[in-house]
Amino acid sequence: MSGRPSSNWFLLPVTTVVLVGLFCLSTLQTVEGVQCYVCSWSPADSNRVDVCTRKNFSESVRTHSCETGCETVTVFDKNGRLDFFYRNCAANTSSITGTCFNETSKAITKEICNCDSNYCNKGSGLEQQLGIVLSGILALLMMVKF
Ligand SMILES: *[C@@H]1O[C@H](CO)[C@@H](O)[C@H](O)[C@H]1NC(C)=O
Ligand SMILES: *[C@@H]1O[C@H](CO)[C@@H](O)[C@H](O)[C@H]1NC(C)=O
Ligand SMILES: *[C@@H]1O[C@H](CO)[C@@H](O)[C@H](O)[C@H]1NC(C)=O
Repeated sequence: MSGRPSSNWFLLPVTTVVLVGLFCLSTLQTVEGVQCYVCSWSPADSNRVDVCTRKNFSESVRTHSCETGCETVTVFDKNGRLDFFYRNCAANTSSITGTCFNETSKAITKEICNCDSNYCNKGSGLEQQLGIVLSGILALLMMVKF
């Protein structure tokens, strides 16, 4: 009769450790990867339908699981004309800003917008920033409510 409580006493911490372990694993997985839209378009592709640029984006394009975050890149030629546009996994982890910035070299300007939540590279950079602001407000509201 006295063996039963002692085996419970042993099982409880084991169960707790397993549950906490599973919980950590599941949050780790969601932190490690985000889903990003992957597509590209260039005005030179005269026979391809544009489903990628801001004007013509369709959510039916391919998606990919990315470890670093997502990005939307617009490449302008030296006259400021659109040269190439793509959405993909973010290339550079150290600079996930959730905003847009320009990288200018002699021949081209690259406008890079990056972000690190699921499907965040769908709109313009402005929408991405708005999304961050909105989720911030949502988080605040939830903190007030609970
Ligand atoms: C933009 O998308 C529409 C259909 O959604 C398509 O008919 C049109 O050709 C596209 N524009 C370009 C430049 O590909
Ligand atoms: C990555 O981002 C950092 C910080 O913005 C920058 O200094 C570095 O040159 C970038 N690396 C590449 C490969 O673009
Ligand atoms: C980047 O450069 C392009 C072309 O010159 C311009 O249209 C765009 O507004 C710039 N973006 C940022 C974030 O400075």
